[in-house]
Amino acid sequence: MPESSVRRPLVVPSVLPADFACLGAEVRDLCAAGADRIQWDVMDGVFVPNLTFGPDVIAAARSHSTVGFEAHLMVVNPGELLAAYIDAGCELIIVHAEACTHLHRTLARIRELGARSGVALNPHTPADVVAHVLAETDLILAMTVNPGFGGQAYIPAVEPKIARLRRMIDDSGHAIELEVDGGITAATIGGAAAAGADVFISGSWMYGCPEGKAAAVKRLRETAHCAREAA
Ligand code: DX5
Repeated sequence: MPESSVRRPLVVPSVLPADFACLGAEVRDLCAAGADRIQWDVMDGVFVPNLTFGPDVIAAARSHSTVGFEAHLMVVNPGELLAAYIDAGCELIIVHAEACTHLHRTLARIRELGARSGVALNPHTPADVVAHVLAETDLILAMTVNPGFGGQAYIPAVEPKIARLRRMIDDSGHAIELEVDGGITAATIGGAAAAGADVFISGSWMYGCPEGKAAAVKRLRETAHCAREAA
């Protein structure tokens, strides 16, 4: 199996379902549960029909975290917000290919500003959109829901795209993480992992897990690992 197929699965909770009145405690809780990173779903109410975190909110939570922050910018003008979210403490900035007229330049700019670069693809967007920016990319996010809200159903039709992205990454020789986001649960993570994903965003399932967040992280990581081994 390609080297990437044995990479340890990363579990990255989204704070979208968190109690926004207690974000410091929520972040500490996610770190204690074993999160590999924490994802902030940034929404501008235009690119997606929802409005969420400004950079100051993320900055206020930064000192409560022992793991890195990533910002998933679901916004129409990500190029104008890069510095603000990096200064807020996000070490990984994910922009949507659909929102970038000059994606190559935007990804390069994220790195120039000192962060790692990521590009997200909505379910309908083909993998080939990122074919010519792999050298500028540290992470590719294949959305498994239409972005804007947590708690939506996983779209299995994205799995062939995940597999194509895995082949593109492995053939490129670049160390690019392949992340999935949306409807990731113990029941759906296996399909995404078998297709080639190695970073998993979970929000509502993790927050709703009766055994708690630590058990949820452990179950997701183990299920993903077994699915990748069996693929
Ligand atoms: C959609 C968001 C969600 C969130 C996780 O715009 O990006 O995917 O992170 O949501 P769940 O895990 O609740 O589907």
